[in-house]
Amino acid sequence: MQRLSVRHTLATAVTALCAIATTANAAPRSVANPLATEDQRVLDALAIEINNGHDFPVLKASAKAAYQTAHGLPISDEASSTLDAAIDELAFSAIQKAVNNDPYYPKVYVVDAGPREWFGLDVPGGRYSYDNPDCVYRTIPIDSGLSYIVTGKRFTPGPTDVSFSLISNPNSQNTVAYLAGEDLVLGSDGSYKITINSTSAEGATNHIQSTSDATQLLIRNNLGDWTTETPDEISVRIIDDASDHDPISKTKIVLDATSNLGQSIVTYGVGALGLKTSINAVNTLSDPSQSSSLGTLTSQASSFGHFELAIDEALVVTLTPGAATYFVVPVTNPWMVTTDPAKQISLNSVQADPNTDGTYTFVVSLQDPEVYNWINTTGLTEGTIMARWQGLPTGSESSSSSDVAIDIQVVPLSELASVLPTGTRYVTPSERAVQLEERAAGYARRLQG
Ligand SMILES: *[C@@H]1O[C@H](CO)[C@@H](O)[C@H](O)[C@H]1NC(C)=O
Ligand SMILES: *[C@@H]1O[C@H](CO)[C@@H](O)[C@H](O)[C@H]1NC(C)=O
Repeated sequence: MQRLSVRHTLATAVTALCAIATTANAAPRSVANPLATEDQRVLDALAIEINNGHDFPVLKASAKAAYQTAHGLPISDEASSTLDAAIDELAFSAIQKAVNNDPYYPKVYVVDAGPREWFGLDVPGGRYSYDNPDCVYRTIPIDSGLSYIVTGKRFTPGPTDVSFSLISNPNSQNTVAYLAGEDLVLGSDGSYKITINSTSAEGATNHIQSTSDATQLLIRNNLGDWTTETPDEISVRIIDDASDHDPISKTKIVLDATSNLGQSIVTYGVGALGLKTSINAVNTLSDPSQSSSLGTLTSQASSFGHFELAIDEALVVTLTPGAATYFVVPVTNPWMVTTDPAKQISLNSVQADPNTDGTYTFVVSLQDPEVYNWINTTGLTEGTIMARWQGLPTGSESSSSSDVAIDIQVVPLSELASVLPTGTRYVTPSERAVQLEERAAGYARRLQG
């Protein structure tokens, strides 16, 4: 009943929004998906055009070699079979970063997402370096000499975790300034405005002070309950007069994409896959650590690992949430890319069922163990994992991350029951079917054009 009433409220909000959209541009839209914007359509179309005209064969070959080196030998046929697709998505992500890279003509662009068809466009996947299936990533290009207003609207319910990171480079993604979702002040109707300029942030609410090395605002909306939570509606306006500046040319976009792909090889191939992931022993996870580099948030702790599983084995992962307001345990292929987000390849703090002591135990396996907190490797016997905790305190007092923890062990499925905590929630096939249907329907909401 609870859920029905939430859905009803959402449906009412969506209907109201459709009415507004219809009056405003006389283009009837049956569904108001805040991600399916005109900016998105224009940028997706441009990214596809550039992708069709440029294959980047030399860079793709060197990306492939870097990923293979980071993985280490031997490389199974199963792992090899998905490498080219992962490199194609990496190249498309490099193009997506380049098409929305004009600080005089800023747009809001959803990136780092799986393939989709919308606006009559066949958009390739642009996932890389541990895309989080809960997260809607959006980018806005920023120049520190210019002033911007980002306008947003929060629906009910909104995302479980929201953050705005000003970063110095779209590839290494080092954070130079940060606005946490909990510090964002919303109007009574859920609307908000954020100013971005070089003025000091001291005492100001909804303001992000840009520094000379800022190039992009990276906005994360993490959805906990996919069936009810809606990402914010977000748009951007430049305050300065841009009329003296021509929009960046396609030649410049291709040069930027080339540079992005070159940097990606080092940052994600050598860095994320090699130094963060492969360095750990198989079927172990690194201790959670908080850092502001390699695309992670300053308020985030991450734990990396890679696994190898037989069909009759499972990984039992136990996570301690600590002070986190959101966490997720996703499984990715050997190249750090989600397989099919609509399948149960991840569970987060809202979706997962807790143990009686407040920890969470997940079973990662190929076969369905009939445990509620199952993470399906979707047939993979080999893959990678980046668990993450968000909403942690930032600053020096948090450097130890001591209140978050993760533990992992491999067990034969036949012995699973003996290692799972008492009170573990099991599911019947029909309960599983409902869980999976809700997830697939929740994911589909994000893809509606
Ligand atoms: C810069 O941001 C501050 C704080 O929100 C605001 O008062 C000021 O008007 C902004 N400056 C410009 C040029 O937009
Ligand atoms: C697990 O993933 C496999 C491979 O994608 C899929 O065929 C299967 O239906 C999934 N299992 C469930 C119960 O969703």
